[in-house]
Amino acid sequence: MAKLSNVFISGGQPTVTYNPRAQLHLEDKLDEYLDMGHKILAITGPTKSGKTVLVRSKINLEKSCWVSGGQISTENDFWETVIEKYEGYTDYSKTESDSTELSDESGVDSGFDVKLLKMNGKTSSTETFSTEKSISRSRKLSTKAISTRLLIENLNNPIIIDDFHYIDQEVQTKIIRYLKDLIFDGLRVIIISVPHRAYDAVKVEREMTGRLIQMEIPIWEKEELEYIMRLGFEELNLVVPQELIDSFAKESFGSPHLTQDFCYKFCSRNCIRETLETETSLEKLNNESIFFREMASDTSKVAFDRLSRGPRQRTDRKERTFVDGTKGDIYQAILLAIAKTGPKTSLTYEEIRNALRNILEDQVPEAHEITRVLDMMTEISKTHIEGEPVVDYDKELSTLYISDPFFAYYLRWGTNIPKLYD
Ligand SMILES: Nc1ncnc2c1ncn2[C@@H]1O[C@H](COP(=O)(O)OP(=O)(O)OP(=O)(O)O)[C@@H](O)[C@H]1O
Ligand SMILES: [Mg+2]
Repeated sequence: MAKLSNVFISGGQPTVTYNPRAQLHLEDKLDEYLDMGHKILAITGPTKSGKTVLVRSKINLEKSCWVSGGQISTENDFWETVIEKYEGYTDYSKTESDSTELSDESGVDSGFDVKLLKMNGKTSSTETFSTEKSISRSRKLSTKAISTRLLIENLNNPIIIDDFHYIDQEVQTKIIRYLKDLIFDGLRVIIISVPHRAYDAVKVEREMTGRLIQMEIPIWEKEELEYIMRLGFEELNLVVPQELIDSFAKESFGSPHLTQDFCYKFCSRNCIRETLETETSLEKLNNESIFFREMASDTSKVAFDRLSRGPRQRTDRKERTFVDGTKGDIYQAILLAIAKTGPKTSLTYEEIRNALRNILEDQVPEAHEITRVLDMMTEISKTHIEGEPVVDYDKELSTLYISDPFFAYYLRWGTNIPKLYD
């Protein structure tokens, strides 16, 4: 008997519905790396594609050091995280009863009693003679020194830096340089990031020449998403129509996160809270578009509104008429055109242009105008929208990527654009 909330889990670590994606050998590759070591493993994959879930399913969290990129602004933050994980200290002191025997100046040998928690600053030491025969010493170690010491003591425990792309590039380089010797000594280091920040990996490569293993997590195929649904519905003793499974897979835009969300909401709407005693068949959704529209997230609305507004210092933009009689400027026209393609999550310039032709009553804007807007949207995505950029136009490949499945979903269901499909 399982609770619904333990079956379909979106935004957390699924167990019952965990799909190892065996045919991709992701777990095998991870195991192989953990066995072999002496290199960095760089895992990349689109946002919400299951990078964190994969690593967490294989790593013993107790015995590893998990660093969240979002928490790291400086190198020192990194060292502090290691110290916190291994409950290390930077201030040591000890008292010895026989002063004449005390000759060790460094004071970092065994026998020290821990007195104080972390402190920043350079290494220093002091000595105090309290009685004729006793001496007390304290020594402050830098966060870097103590972090190194703890990592050496825990060489067999992997260190994972999740959302590595959130870390400032300069800090990223410093961290990799810092870890280099430890990797040589056997420390396993896994970094997780999104692929359109491929330059992150390139920089790491430069640092690590020949000692970087790349592992890409592809977006999910329909069958892989179906696998999640099958596991979950079976666990709850439910039979659902194939049509519903097909539609959930299609609307997931390759992300298991959306699949888990749909299934949870669908069961919840049908008042299923836990495994049913007898196998029960559920009907398909009676109004699919209402169900999907309700699930479009507000986060993506913010991104959409921001993109459709364009740059702040807007010059008077030409108003354009769309085939449905509504009006909008070039930013709205392009978003609408993208949405009308499905949206596809990767679109060439030509595809965007053709889509514009289909939705505009007026003439299609000039090529340079379109590319200028695509560049601007990319810029807005990077600098004015929180989280991962939702769109990214690659000038060299003349291709626009919708890198966020939630944003693609919003384009399809969150705006009034869907009306144009019917
Ligand atoms: N292997 C899996 N089997 C079933 N569901 C999964 C799997 N991987 C991910 N999911 C679902 O997708 C959600 C997001 O996964 P995860 O957090 O691992 O993605 P991510 O790639 O790390 O995303 P981000 O780039 O935002 O960090 C999970 O909470 C879960 O609902
Ligand atoms: Mg993640």
